[in-house]
Amino acid sequence: MINYEEPGLWLLATPSSAYVVRLGPDGAPRCAHWGPRLTPDQARALPPGREELPGEGGERFGVAGLQVRYGDAVRGVEWRHLDHEIDPGGDGAAGHLVIRMADRHYPLEIDLHYRVRPGSDAIDRWTTLRNTGDEPITILRCDSAAWTVPQREDYRLTHVTGGWGAEFQVRRTALATAETVLTSRRGHSGHHANPWVMLDAGDATEDHGEVWSAALAWSGSWRITVERDHDGRAGWSGGFGHEGVTWRLGPGEALETPAFSGVYSAEGFGGISHRWHDHVRRHVLPEPRRVRPVVFNSWEATEFDISQAQQMELAELAAGIGVELFVMDDGWFGGRTGETAGLGDWWPNPERFPDGLTPLVEHVKRLGMAFGLWVEPESVNPDSELYRTHPEWVLRQPNRHPTEVRNQLLLDFSRDDVADWAYDRLDELVTGDDIAFLKWDMNRPFTEAGDEVWVPYIRNVYAVIDRLRAAHPHLMIEGCASGGGRADLGMIARTDQIWTSDDTDAAQRIAIQHGYGQIYPACTMGAWVTDSPNAITGGRTPLAFRFHVAMAGALGIGGDLRRWGPEDLEQAKHLVARYKEIRPVVHGGRMDRLADWAVQYTLDADVVVLSWRPTMLVRATAPLRLRGLDPDGRYRDEDTGEICHGALLMSHGLPRPWPFEGVSELKRFTRVG
Ligand code: DGJ
Repeated sequence: MINYEEPGLWLLATPSSAYVVRLGPDGAPRCAHWGPRLTPDQARALPPGREELPGEGGERFGVAGLQVRYGDAVRGVEWRHLDHEIDPGGDGAAGHLVIRMADRHYPLEIDLHYRVRPGSDAIDRWTTLRNTGDEPITILRCDSAAWTVPQREDYRLTHVTGGWGAEFQVRRTALATAETVLTSRRGHSGHHANPWVMLDAGDATEDHGEVWSAALAWSGSWRITVERDHDGRAGWSGGFGHEGVTWRLGPGEALETPAFSGVYSAEGFGGISHRWHDHVRRHVLPEPRRVRPVVFNSWEATEFDISQAQQMELAELAAGIGVELFVMDDGWFGGRTGETAGLGDWWPNPERFPDGLTPLVEHVKRLGMAFGLWVEPESVNPDSELYRTHPEWVLRQPNRHPTEVRNQLLLDFSRDDVADWAYDRLDELVTGDDIAFLKWDMNRPFTEAGDEVWVPYIRNVYAVIDRLRAAHPHLMIEGCASGGGRADLGMIARTDQIWTSDDTDAAQRIAIQHGYGQIYPACTMGAWVTDSPNAITGGRTPLAFRFHVAMAGALGIGGDLRRWGPEDLEQAKHLVARYKEIRPVVHGGRMDRLADWAVQYTLDADVVVLSWRPTMLVRATAPLRLRGLDPDGRYRDEDTGEICHGALLMSHGLPRPWPFEGVSELKRFTRVG
């Protein structure tokens, strides 16, 4: 709900938080409150605080989320409030506020947007800039929003870092009295970072304490600058583009930023995750209620060495253990028999599939599964028909060497003709063989990209996916960039799930999933069971352990089933069936991280606990105490039939006398009274 309480004072209320904006004496909107819910009376008593989007100019010496240069080389903004508009939304629980301002002298207008939605604690904020004059204005930086945290004695920063095969590693560090920059300069959101941030006063735990957070809905380069000043104030400013990327805003043109959404919780990091998961499931995912099928993906089993007969054999084995969707990964098209050729030629390799994909697709369907394909529409190998026909389509700059990454160049998706070509090819592919699922990969960062590419490129990727979804409402899309290199709210808004990481070693995967789940819900987290020893790490884990780790997300099978013995296949069949029973709880329920090595999902009367002991270094002797149960409730252990008290499951927990590593457990409880 959004209310205009008195001139220059807006109160935004979500189910468990409030946000107050107040016009300062200088005409700039300022944050007066971000925290627990307030009454209008309380909101009126608040003074204006830090600016909602500080620019350059005057005595502003902090992070400038807005930097502009006019035709006469003058920089900075001096605001004059114009007006505001509130669209209350349908049922009063929602709302969209636009605060409009203009520069006092130059023809630049800005809209600050705020949106709240029913049942969600997220506040979406973004910015629109308009050039109302007749000369271009250079935009040196335009953040979506600056977020201010109330003043505390101390602050702690939480974010994720990592690399290929090691994404989403949670880092929690004291916030320096300085500017701390989280950023991607890669053209995708990155393996080494992810576009979200959390601050607390250093005292929050998994279920206690105040935490403030924000996540950017953008899949290209980005920057979030967290600032703690000498006077002890803290906050951050963030948006698309990294430093140095500029825009030319022509006469009459507008620039709209992606949303940078903020969530506050007084219930610790777990409370923050609950709110994000609810928000993503209700308001971000395009098809939140769609059942995420159990996938088989061919990549680790066959890599580039694909044949029709071998894929058919894998499909039979996959169907036998309960797989619902068979996905043929890289290597099925053009001359793609390795990394060096074929990318861009999106037709079946005539030697491998002499009759096209139809025989395989029909085979898969007869086995009762849907069929999916891997594509990487943004890339091209120089050794491809596409490149030979359209060498001018790749990202490059005059007098600069075109960098190849994984023997690939990137198509310039900022060009509408390139985006139209990609749409037409994919549309034809999906239509021709009734493809149910596309894994949309992107395996190389931007290089040799000029200023004008960074934003339109991503917008055109979005547009192609959006058009495909609109034309094929049943099509599912998995977002991927060499694993989790492009996992963000922008991608999640137009896909069904994300391929989380190329590291499928279950022991290592636990930490990756732990980080992914800080913001993004389990139903979006692609997780495969692969072979042991693991293809990348050589790590060995029991089959049940691998399943129990992957069951914490959207389960897939990625191993070479031809090498699994009959006992393995039988056990896998049993575990897939178990997963299908718990899937609604894992995907739709509340997730509680009970420890770094255990997670609980709760949906109405159903409780699922997955726990793992990946190495001896994980202490597995302390009991696992469940969360969020009714202390007066009774819960039936679905394996033993034992009736347990909610109060005891929470205070005494589940016994865990686990002597060895590689042990894991799936527990199910149902509330019976
Ligand atoms: C990177 C992805 O993350 C893998 O799963 C696989 O699809 C390969 N690309 C194929 O080239």
